[in-house]
This record gives sequence, structure tokens and C-alpha cells, in this order.
Amino acid sequence: MAVRISIGDTSFLSQDGESLLDCLSRNGVSVPHSCRSGVCQSCLMQVTAGPAPEAAQIGLKPTLQQQKFVLACQCKSDQDISVAFPGAAGGDLPAVIAGKDRLNHNVLRLYLKPDGDFSCEPGQYLTLINRDGVARSYSVANDPARDGHIELHIRLLKDGLMSGFIEKAGIGEPVTIRGPAGSCFYVRGDGAYPIVLAGTGTGLAPLYGVARQALAHGHTGEIRLLHGALREADLYLVAELQDLALRHPNFHYIPCVLKGEAERFYRAGNIEEITMSILPGDKSRTHLFLCGAPEFVTALKRKAFLGGVASKHIFSDAFLPTKSAPVAA
Ligand SMILES: Cc1cc2nc3c(=O)[nH]c(=O)nc-3n(C[C@H](O)[C@H](O)[C@H](O)COP(=O)(O)OP(=O)(O)OC[C@H]3O[C@@H](n4cnc5c(N)ncnc54)[C@H](O)[C@@H]3O)c2cc1C
Ligand code: FES
Repeated sequence: MAVRISIGDTSFLSQDGESLLDCLSRNGVSVPHSCRSGVCQSCLMQVTAGPAPEAAQIGLKPTLQQQKFVLACQCKSDQDISVAFPGAAGGDLPAVIAGKDRLNHNVLRLYLKPDGDFSCEPGQYLTLINRDGVARSYSVANDPARDGHIELHIRLLKDGLMSGFIEKAGIGEPVTIRGPAGSCFYVRGDGAYPIVLAGTGTGLAPLYGVARQALAHGHTGEIRLLHGALREADLYLVAELQDLALRHPNFHYIPCVLKGEAERFYRAGNIEEITMSILPGDKSRTHLFLCGAPEFVTALKRKAFLGGVASKHIFSDAFLPTKSAPVAA
């Protein structure tokens, strides 16, 4: 059944089963979006008249749900609705690029200075929106409230819309940030449980944030951080993590290189197998954090659960790539 979607002074008829995102995009209204899977939250919109479909609110904070915010890519309404872009009510905050440095041949560290309070746990992710309306999710590698800035690790992709933009952008470039979202962050509890953090590529960003937060809170349990890379040159922050391990006897840094050589400072081999081999004996108390390539996250989540890690103690963020719009038949 076609329903009427209104935005500002304009309205459109949606096609059968079409999402709010697809209906607006088909009619030339540009909505920031990335994953099209209900994960990244970059397509946030607010329903200003009519009901907000429950399925389009899954994963949103209760305060956003109450204000009838929805994820446009998941929003299929069976009634006429009016919608608006989120603005400040949806958590949009202006920020500027405050600094950049190279971490390796294809990872850039970006520092953002928000214009206002941005509260977030290290390891959560935010949506970064540039002046062209391109929106992408990035995990926060530090504690912005403590440091006064936000640290992100950006993988530079060939023809990457956002990573290409960031690579070229100058200091002071204005951007918008939205969020945070996600449950990959440190919770103190008794402060003594074992923690295993495993990530591939820039999946290190949230894990670096979680590890430093746990250590800052005096976590006494063993913390093992595994960073997986294809080649040695793809590792980054090696010296910083080795230094962290020297300063904290309960922190262990285990770089893993798939195409590595024997007798180097890293373990040569597959990070999934290495992670399973170092899981502590006390698996039921172990908190496991998995971030990075979606195939890696899905596979290791399953193996670790079957291996005895409680599902309530597995926290993960799969870095889903951008999905393009469905092709019209
Ligand atoms: C919850 C979450 C957290 C994330 N956190 C981070 C983070 O901390 N750091 C980070 O770098 N990224 C992170 N991502 C991924 C990020 O949001 C973007 O998808 C990614 O940076 C690509 O954006 P882009 O605009 O540069 O490239 P796009 O313009 O989206 O893509 C350019 C080209 O690269 C291809 N491509 C996209 N992703 C990949 C990939 N993974 N491998 C190979 N080819 C690809 C596309 O198909 C396209 O052809 C996260 C994603 C999610 C969902
Ligand atoms: S949640 Fe809608 S595009 Fe990612």
C-alpha cells in the first residue's frame, strides 16, 4: 500500500515495501546514510506527524525513541507520516578537524574538536557527516571528556568518499558529529575479570579506547589485546601499545600478522585461531570485545560462544561497509 511521506513543504508517495530512505532518495532528497542495515545510525530522521514504526527504532537510545526518531533505512510506514532531519534534537553537534597524523601507510588518525559537550565512552562510535552530506561511522579511540578532543582512526580507501575527504581536508574544516551509539565500552564491575580485545585493521580504534579506559579505572584482571593485520606494515600504534604493556603488567599486546614471518615481535598466523588459543581458562567471566571486518567479527563471535564465553559478555562492532541504493527494476 502506498503511503504519503511529507518533508518540509513537499510530499511523495512511497512504493510498496519501500523504506523512508529509498523513497526520499528516489525523489532527490539527500539523506545521509551508510550501512542500510540499521546499524550505523547515520540515517537518523524524526517523525513529526504520524506514528514512528517500532522496527525503525531498534537500537536507538530511549530518549530518541520517545521523540519519535527513526532509522530511515529501516522505516517502512503503513500510514502517512511527516518527517524532518534530526538537527540538534537528534544529537547533531558541529565540530572541526583539529589535527591529523599518519599511523601507517593507509590509516590516518583524526582529531576532532566538538563545539559543545560531546559525551561518549571510549569504544562507542559516532556518525561523521561532511559538508557534502556524506555520513560514515567511526569508533572513538579515546575519552573525549578527559582529553577535550575526539580521536578517530580512519582507514584510507581507494575512492573512499569520506576517507578521501578527510585525507584532503585542512585543519579547521567544519563537520557534523552525531551520536554516540554502540555497546563496545568498558564497564568496571569488580574490576578483576579477564578482558580479551581482538580486532582487525582500524578495529584497533575502539579496542585501544577500551583498554586505556580499563587501565585508567585500575582494572586488575588480565587484559589481552590482539591486533590482526595482513602484513607487518598494516600494524600501527605498535610502540604505544608495547609501552602500555611495559607500564601495566596486566596488559598484554599481541600483534598478529597473517602473512608474517617467524621470530618477529608479532605472532605469525590467523588472529581468529590465535585469539581462541589465548582465551583464559576462566571463560565464563571473560569479557570479549571484537571489532573490525564483519566476517572476522561474526566468525570469532560464534567460535568464542561455542568455546564457553557467555554471549552477554561478548561485545562487538562489525565495520559494515557502505551499501548502495537498490537498483530500480
Ligand atoms: C559501527 C561502525 C564503526 C566503524 N568504525 C570505523 C573506524 O573506527 N575506522 C574506520 O576506518 N572505519 C570504520 N567503519 C567503516 C566506515 O564507516 C566506512 O564504511 C569506511 O571508512 C569507508 O568509508 P569511505 O567513505 O572512506 O569509503 P566508501 O566511499 O564507503 O567506499 C569506497 C570503496 O571502498 C569499498 N569499501 C568500503 N569498505 C570497505 C572495506 N571494509 N574493505 C574493502 N573495501 C571497502 C566500497 O565498496 C567502495 O568501493 C565503521 C563502520 C561501522 C558500521
Ligand atoms: S542505520 Fe540506516 S544507513 Fe546505517
